[in-house]
Parts: sequence; C-alpha cells; structure tokens
Amino acid sequence: SPMHESIQQAAEWIAASKHLVVLTGAGVSKESGVPTFRDALDGLWARYDPQQLATAEAFRRDPKLVWDWYEYRRGLVRAADPNPGHAALAALEALRPLVIVTQNVDDLHQRAGSKDILALHGAIMRSKCFATCRGEPTVIDVAALPAFDPADGPPRCPYCGAWVRPDVVWYGETLPAGALQRAAELASAADVMLVVGTSGVVQPAASLPYLARQAGARLIEVNPRPSEITRAAHLWLEGPSGEILPQVVARVQERLR
Ligand code: APR
Repeated sequence: SPMHESIQQAAEWIAASKHLVVLTGAGVSKESGVPTFRDALDGLWARYDPQQLATAEAFRRDPKLVWDWYEYRRGLVRAADPNPGHAALAALEALRPLVIVTQNVDDLHQRAGSKDILALHGAIMRSKCFATCRGEPTVIDVAALPAFDPADGPPRCPYCGAWVRPDVVWYGETLPAGALQRAAELASAADVMLVVGTSGVVQPAASLPYLARQAGARLIEVNPRPSEITRAAHLWLEGPSGEILPQVVARVQERLR
C-alpha cells in the first residue's frame, strides 16, 4: 500500500541519517489525553480560547483565571502517560543520533526516556516570578512555598511578592535565551527532519522545517491532518503518531540490524 511504501521510505532516510532532528507539537501528546491548542477546551474551560489565556496581558488582567487554567492543564499532564509515539522516539534515540525539539510544555518526552530534548516553550510543571525579580527566569519551587489559598489567585514570589506564573512561553513572548538559536543551528545542520503533530502556525518554531529543507534536509511529517508544513514535506505519513511512529521505528531497527 502507499502508506506502507511511505513508511519504508521514511525508515530508509532515518536509518541513513547522521543529524536527525525531530520537531514535535501538541499532536504527539494527543493520544496521551493532553488536548492540543487548536482543540476546543472541555467542560469548565469550553468558553475560553487558549490563545486568550496564554498571554501576559490575560495574566495581568486576571491572574487567578490564568493560574487556574494552568492548574487544570497540569492536572491533565500529571494524569497522562507517554504514549507509543513518545516511546518510539525514545527508542529511536538509541538507534540514531537525534535531538527532539519540542513545542510542548508537558514532560512526556522526558518520562518516555528521551534524553536530548530542546524545549522551546518552557515547562508547565515549572513556575517563575512574573516580575523576573532575580533575572529571567526566576524559577520558584511552588511545592516549597508556604501554603496559599488558591481562591486568592496564584502564589506570590518569595523574593519580591509578585505573582508566580508558569514557566512557559506565552503568545507575544520571546523564546528562552539560546533555545531558538540552538534550534535554528540544529535545523540547518539536519539531514533529516521528522515533524510530528504540529499545526505549523506558531512562529518561530514553524519556520524550522523550512530552514531544514532549505539546508537540504529530507522532511518527513507525521500528522493525521494536513498542516502548514505538509506542502513542504517530502513525505507525509498521514495518521496519528502513536500508530505511525512505532511502525517507522520498527522498520529503522530492521534496517540497522
Ligand atoms: N498524532 C499526530 N498529530 C496529531 C494527532 C495525533 N494523534 N492529533 C492531532 N494532531 C495534529 C493536529 O492535526 C495539528 O496539526 O497535531 C497538531 C496540533 O496543532 P496545535 O494544537 O496547533 O499544536 P502545536 O502546533 O504544538 O502548537 C504550537 O502554539 O499555542 C501555542 O505554545 C503553544 O506550543 C504551542 C504552539
């Protein structure tokens, strides 16, 4: 079948790669039960648009609302387990030199056992001072703070008293120092880039596949729907990453045996 052939072709390129970069987005965690950004939110949060909660402006306007939304999402991430897509990428790291560049703020790649991970958008489980009172980021261990009442909003920075916020990159904010530069270097040096579960609409991450392709890399996409990357991809493996990636990695393994 055409899908079988595409998976074979992808495995061939990946098995021969020397500088493999895997760019992941929310789709890779979807089968773990973590909603993507373009999905409608469930239940209590259905009337909110994530793009209007994930901004410094929204936090300034209503810190409790935004903090509560992140508490809800932290709960989803805590309850989730890595899926076979995450596991396949962790297994692939033992077969080829690879770096995962992720837009995800969950910790599912780490928990699946991947080691070389460049997190472009921060980490939802980590918090920092909203006023960056001791430099960017002023990381705060919320679990170590004195008890606070969530009805009063987020906890306060123990150094300066400003609000504590999640250590994630909000719309309109710049990426962590050095992260974008390293990602761009990796993309430019890649011979194969595997793009998994991203809509490709949020910059600057969305430009990385184009950078890699321009520099001569083979571009392979895994996504059940077309994205802004699809037209640039040499191969589109149309399907959920939890089903496609284990098949690809099994073929890579066969080729390297
Ligand atoms: N397997 C693979 N891909 C999937 C799956 C799946 N099972 N289910 C859905 N997808 C795809 C969707 O088709 C879509 O293209 O995952 C993509 C998710 O897109 P977004 O929700 O836009 O997520 P992402 O591209 O990671 O968003 C980028 O935007 O909101 C900001 O900072 C946030 O990191 C995020 C960034």
